[in-house]
Amino acid sequence: MEMTKMEFNVLKSIMDLVSFFLVSTVLVIKAIIYGCLPKSYKKKKNFENEIVLITGGAGGIGRLVALKLAKLNAKIVLWDVDTSGIEDAVNQVRGIGGKAYGYKCDLTDREDVYRTANKVYEEVGQVTILINNAGIASGRLLLDTPDHLIQRTFDVNIISHFWTTKAFLPKMIDSNHGHIVTIASLAGHIGVHKLVDYCSSKFAAVGFDESLRIELEKLGVTGVKTTVVCPYFIQATGMFNDVVSRFVPTLKSTQVADEIVEAIELEKLSVIIPRYLGILCVKWILPWTVISLFMRNIVSNAGPTHAEALPHENKKMPEKGMFQTNAESELHHRAHVTEKR
Ligand SMILES: NC(=O)c1ccc[n+]([C@@H]2O[C@H](COP(=O)([O-])OP(=O)(O)OC[C@H]3O[C@@H](n4cnc5c(N)ncnc54)[C@H](O)[C@@H]3O)[C@@H](O)[C@H]2O)c1
Repeated sequence: MEMTKMEFNVLKSIMDLVSFFLVSTVLVIKAIIYGCLPKSYKKKKNFENEIVLITGGAGGIGRLVALKLAKLNAKIVLWDVDTSGIEDAVNQVRGIGGKAYGYKCDLTDREDVYRTANKVYEEVGQVTILINNAGIASGRLLLDTPDHLIQRTFDVNIISHFWTTKAFLPKMIDSNHGHIVTIASLAGHIGVHKLVDYCSSKFAAVGFDESLRIELEKLGVTGVKTTVVCPYFIQATGMFNDVVSRFVPTLKSTQVADEIVEAIELEKLSVIIPRYLGILCVKWILPWTVISLFMRNIVSNAGPTHAEALPHENKKMPEKGMFQTNAESELHHRAHVTEKR
């Protein structure tokens, strides 16, 4: 008896599904066994011939990672807008016997990124590990954040990743060797008040890493890896050092730098620091009210003190439907936003 085309398609779909589940089971078991192996048994990247470019490398996490990678014999290239910070960082790396080169580059300026990338290629060589680390935070309520700060947050925290990656990825693909590392944040997985622009840019950074990885896999580029690192608040860098956190202690910057280096060394796909906060993935199944209660209590004020005066903070705006009509609410909102631009 002959099979109709429809019957054939149904049978093929069933076989595809069965083989997908079988292959997935094998891959999950493999991942569990690999996860349980002691670190000493895992294959580690050798940094000897690697040229590592770290954006925002003048201070904070970028500088610490530079020092650690230099100790592992990587050649370090630092980009930042902070020229004296770059000079200090380059001297510090050279002081421990490492090789380092510093460049002033403003990541919000696409042409500057491409120009400086060419300069690095001519003067240092082909970048094989790109660490998109530079970041900024405005730290204000959305309606108190001027437009230019929102734009700047996106330009530094995510748009620049497109320019740096477009500058360095082609040669990595040609040589089938490279690594694109994204320093995102836990704020790239969960919303935080006063960080609407920051969180949105970090959610985008997480998406950037994942979609780039899948694109490279689909293109059959096996030698170029991607890693995304998502830390909780960190102490003693230029960003959130004054943020007070309840229940979950803020992280030591050296611990974060160690985990970033280990993630690159082991070519991990994604890292949440501290690991136990991976539990936040339950946000997909828990009621929003539980997540909101947790997030509102864990950090009462995520605005760093370097954020300027917050005129809107203590003014409780009447909520729509409570004291205002829709039209009044809209007018209030527009007046407020226009005033802030
Ligand atoms: N500090 C935290 O609590 C925390 C938590 C999670 C994730 N992160 C992320 O870690 C990364 C490093 O942060 P950090 O804590 O070391 O901050 P940091 O402020 O100490 O360092 C950021 C660096 O980026 C540089 N930079 C800013 N704008 C730039 C531009 N336009 N062009 C070039 N360089 C520019 C700064 O000059 C600075 O040296 C950031 O992406 C940040 O979002 C930080």
